[in-house]
Amino acid sequence: MSDIPLSHIKSFVRRAGRMTDLQKKSYQGLSDRYCVDATQGLLDFTSIYGRQAPLVIEIGFGMGISTAIIAQGEPLTNFLGIEVHRPGIGKLMSEMESKKIDNLKIIEGDAVDVLSRSIPEASIRGIHLFFPDPWPKKKHHKRRILSPAFVALAASRIAAGGYFYMVTDWEEYAHEALVTLSASTALRNSATGFAERREWRPVTKFEMKAIKAGRLIRELYFLKTPASP
Ligand SMILES: C[S@@+](CC[C@H](N)C(=O)[O-])C[C@H]1O[C@@H](n2cnc3c(N)ncnc32)[C@H](O)[C@@H]1O
Repeated sequence: MSDIPLSHIKSFVRRAGRMTDLQKKSYQGLSDRYCVDATQGLLDFTSIYGRQAPLVIEIGFGMGISTAIIAQGEPLTNFLGIEVHRPGIGKLMSEMESKKIDNLKIIEGDAVDVLSRSIPEASIRGIHLFFPDPWPKKKHHKRRILSPAFVALAASRIAAGGYFYMVTDWEEYAHEALVTLSASTALRNSATGFAERREWRPVTKFEMKAIKAGRLIRELYFLKTPASP
């Protein structure tokens, strides 16, 4: 384990990344409606969503394919997607507009900063971490978002009875994550080892490709222990 402070290692590389015209138009035209400013301290979700409802956060939603489907399928839950990749933010916002998804908001930024500075402790129902960058080279493993320090931070934001749900197709990362999550006293495994896919989690094109290539999809579903801080 590294002793470098959590916020100093970035789990992503900000690439200029070309945006399609639609993504650019959505990013410019819809940010005021769907994006939340997370630079002003703790967020007040009742005023952001205009209602009180359980909140689920998705970290690193990519192009937001699963995000939009899950949010649309669960209208009584508030969703918050955190991503640094602008084309993905633009893409998801255009989807939200066309499908009229209004229980989902977006924060553009590093999820580690957002969780630590803007999300009150024990306030959320769940965290989704789907296919995080595996950083396959050994010298880059320290960039993996799932570390003991990250798990402690994430678990502290989840309310008692809430959940942490990670999915990966990178076998070695899956085993490392299983060890790290199992070592947390704030969480307990809902399964023995890896979990079953939650049937509400859509299977994306990316995932189908991984399956076709012979990779296993590993699901880790942990619950916040009621007694933990
Ligand atoms: C491999 S992609 C997976 C995208 C999506 N979850 C999926 O299943 O297709 C990982 C995503 O996580 C984002 N990401 C990585 N670290 C992040 C961080 N600290 N905060 C926000 N997003 C992050 C990257 O920009 C990238 O879009």
